[in-house]
Amino acid sequence: MSNATPDLTLVRKQLMQVKHPELKKDIVSLGMVAKVEPTSDGLEVTVKTPNNDRRLQIGLEAQVRQLLSKLDGVGKIKIKFEVDQAMKMEDGNRIPGVKKVIAIGSGKGGVGKSTVTANLAMALLANGKKVGIMDADIYGPSIGKMFGINGRIPLKSEDDKIYPIEKEGLKIISFSFLVSEDQPVVWRGPMLGKAVEQFLYDVVWGELDYLLIDLPPGTGDVQLSLAQLVDLDGSVIVTTPQSVALLDAGRAAAMFKQVKVPILGVVENMSGFACPSCGHVTDVFSKGGGLTLANQLGVPALGQVPLTVDIMKSGEAGKPFTAVEPNGPIGNAYKQIVKNLEEQIALWND
Ligand SMILES: Nc1ncnc2c1ncn2[C@@H]1O[C@H](COP(=O)(O)OP(=O)(O)OP(=O)(O)O)[C@@H](O)[C@H]1O
Ligand SMILES: [Mg+2]
Repeated sequence: MSNATPDLTLVRKQLMQVKHPELKKDIVSLGMVAKVEPTSDGLEVTVKTPNNDRRLQIGLEAQVRQLLSKLDGVGKIKIKFEVDQAMKMEDGNRIPGVKKVIAIGSGKGGVGKSTVTANLAMALLANGKKVGIMDADIYGPSIGKMFGINGRIPLKSEDDKIYPIEKEGLKIISFSFLVSEDQPVVWRGPMLGKAVEQFLYDVVWGELDYLLIDLPPGTGDVQLSLAQLVDLDGSVIVTTPQSVALLDAGRAAAMFKQVKVPILGVVENMSGFACPSCGHVTDVFSKGGGLTLANQLGVPALGQVPLTVDIMKSGEAGKPFTAVEPNGPIGNAYKQIVKNLEEQIALWND
């Protein structure tokens, strides 16, 4: 048996894999790990539980033992339980400093989810809120490009924390910052989970009113596990008015319902075409599908954003459109969306 003191950072990482059986969150984020102390021949871990539920304690003890025994030089593992009746389990699983975490989802790709995320963030910022964006779109991370952040940034700093990039007054972190541009992104399940976990718990967000998460399109296993890993306060569904997109958006809604994440509403993007010269909106493709969907789902329609050439150009140019023209038709559409969204958030908080 080695006498080397186990690395406490590694111990913490292992403990972050110990899941509370019902809350599906790890015991570190839940604030259940009271103490980790080296002893003369090993390690003592003190775990707090809200009551004396022996089934819960035994289950946790088994997980802690199994995960910690994988570490070199850990020695004898002693686990103590402490009952803390004041413990509020729901509050412990927050990302420190972040008030509301909202996922932006869509069943179908290319409906403008990232564009909506970027502009929504700018509109919330204009409303005096502190906002961060996490681009969790592992297939096609594009938030960096939308804000003109190119290339790779070193995500690890000395103190083992990641600092988001600040742009336009927002804090931004993207999977694209992890890979070079010519490197295809291939994430396998466990790698993805680790990366997201790191994105969530090791990023120094500071104080945020909102963290918007741009999820990958689709409703498969990856999206589902992302939605579960993240402690979401709500979700926004983006769709285009066409029926195919609506069908997929319906699936996205079903996914959020499955993981018990409140759906705050639907944003209909590319809703009609805004004429570049006069601004008049024509329903060239179709319009109002988002409303129909919202009605079907029994959730609010948050607003409609017309299809415009400008919004596309601004995405390419690396500046969200609402930052360029906050009081134009697009800027106003987003103001309305923010107003409705914040009303919904307030409702869900009661
Ligand atoms: N309202 C709009 N008017 C015009 N173009 C738009 C609008 N919204 C988005 N676009 C353009 O449509 C394209 C797709 O948008 P975006 O990348 O935001 O979609 P997405 O749903 O995030 O796609 P992906 O599935 O690839 O992540 C982009 O070129 C964007 O500039
Ligand atoms: Mg996208």
